[in-house]
Amino acid sequence: MKTLLALALATASLAAFAADVPKLPYEAGGKHVGVVNCASSLCHGSISEWKGSNVLQNEYVTWSRVDKHALRAAQVLTNERSRRIAANLGLKEPAHKAKVCVDCHGHNPPAEQRGERFKASDGVSCEACHGPAEKWIASHVAPGATHEENVANGLYPTPDPVALARLCLSCHFGNKDKFVTHRIMGAGHPRISFELDTFTQTQPPHFVIDEDWQRRKGRWDGVRVWAIGQALAAQESLDVVLDPKRGRDGLFPELVVFDCHACHHPMSETRWKPRVGTRPGTIRFNDSNLLMLRQIVRRTDPAESAAFNAQVLQLHKAVAGEGGDALEAAARLRRGLDAVIAKLRGREFDDRDLRAILAGLVEDGIAGSYADYAGAEQATMAIASVMNFLARRGSLGDVRAANAALDRVFETVRNDEKYRGERFQSALSGLKPHLAR
Ligand code: HEC
Ligand code: HEC
Ligand code: HEC
Ligand code: HEC
Repeated sequence: MKTLLALALATASLAAFAADVPKLPYEAGGKHVGVVNCASSLCHGSISEWKGSNVLQNEYVTWSRVDKHALRAAQVLTNERSRRIAANLGLKEPAHKAKVCVDCHGHNPPAEQRGERFKASDGVSCEACHGPAEKWIASHVAPGATHEENVANGLYPTPDPVALARLCLSCHFGNKDKFVTHRIMGAGHPRISFELDTFTQTQPPHFVIDEDWQRRKGRWDGVRVWAIGQALAAQESLDVVLDPKRGRDGLFPELVVFDCHACHHPMSETRWKPRVGTRPGTIRFNDSNLLMLRQIVRRTDPAESAAFNAQVLQLHKAVAGEGGDALEAAARLRRGLDAVIAKLRGREFDDRDLRAILAGLVEDGIAGSYADYAGAEQATMAIASVMNFLARRGSLGDVRAANAALDRVFETVRNDEKYRGERFQSALSGLKPHLAR
């Protein structure tokens, strides 16, 4: 697809973008000291929460007992499924030793940056998210130490939603350095799905966002986190299209950016329906995040809404080979998303915003906009998040009935292979009574 010149230009713009963002924990300088240094009962390994402290102090206990990053992430690499994936890919090492797997299923900084007590078997450890602790482990407990000072010493800025989204997506989608390609999926790796707010809630969190947290680290708005997560996820997919290294894996472009079920469904099931821009028999770009952004932009920047939708349409057409250069369309949309993110950073969402976004998602869904599974799945997580925020603010009327209606929606997206758009649409209608106050 398209010319080498366009590829070179696209790569240059990726490099320019990389300059002004904080380094991810695995790329940052400094030594990774290992979980054991955080785990003492006087530090983050207390059995119960401390009353007088501004952090819970039992983060290690939460992480090691219930967080899949500790319990499962590394362990799964030794199971039968991973053995099969490694064998199918023809890896020279077993999965738990192979960089291509350990980069995401563990914490894999360069050998010379590992402290004496660093253990690879710890899985996705504290420093995989909070950054190498060498330069801040002593100072962050000094009386009066501020979050800004800790960040200056190398603590990764997890409270910033843009930085947070880049961090989680680096493993829950992939980035320039690590990535679950269609080849890896073809070898048996599961499909990956992610939504920043939902996954932050289910991890489960080892922190509490209260007044004290916000005084130390700034405002936290869950809807903003959701919205920024969508924008960053869309950019990561566009980067795959734009990145010549990932864009080609024998076939061009990499199949992971398309709707999986556009190809993977029985031929006897004819399910094509007219949808934006593309004709029957073409593959479709996975637009699940872009569909969410449509609602977000419509609410936060109504003047730009039409232009944004036009950019998305151009991308769909170009990718399906129906006019325009796919790389140019992807680069343009990617830049457009930078502007969306800049606006979202300072945006607070009130009840009216939440209701408008919720209504938009439900109406678009009933109208058939989320005919593809991936769109329906994202919409469901988004609807659940937004309803949850409304409920927490006490603005959701009958919470129990709303939850029951939401459960029926979840039921229709539980299994991607059994997904039927009509069932999803009719379950969404059940949410309508809960939209008005
Ligand atoms: C870009 C990051 C990334 C890479 C690279 C990666 N994985 Fe994964 N893998 C994930 C994530 C994230 C999940 C969890 C998906 C979910 O449940 O949402 C996962 C899930 C899995 C699972 C299922 C886990 C379970 O709990 O059932 C297996 C098995 C697996 N990966 C094996 C591998 C192997 C083997 C490799 C190397 C060939 C590999 N992965 C490479 C990110 C990655
Ligand atoms: C998968 C990523 C991830 C891992 C792994 C992780 N954390 Fe966190 N942690 C976060 C996020 C996100 C936050 C919330 C933002 C913030 O407060 O910085 C957080 C917050 C914290 C806080 C601050 C709470 C507050 O009120 O200020 C502490 C302390 C903490 N984590 C300790 C740990 C320890 C100790 C470990 C390892 C045992 C660990 N974390 C592992 C992502 C992670
Ligand atoms: C270094 C890579 C890495 C980073 C960074 C990371 N994760 Fe994960 N995460 C994984 C892997 C691998 C798994 C899969 C564990 C399994 O099921 O085997 C996982 C699993 C999860 C799960 C459980 C999913 C399920 O199917 O039950 C949640 C929730 C999650 N991560 C949230 C987050 C959030 C939120 C962030 C950002 C704060 C984050 N992760 C950052 C690698 C990572
Ligand atoms: C353009 C069409 C296309 C798209 C889009 C696509 N795939 Fe595939 N997929 C294929 C083909 C072709 C094969 C090879 C089938 C074979 O070897 O029989 C394959 C193989 C696979 C396999 C192995 C199946 C087997 O029989 O062993 C898995 C798993 C898979 N794909 C998952 C995915 C996921 C997940 C996505 C979306 C992220 C996706 N695919 C998107 C065409 C596609």
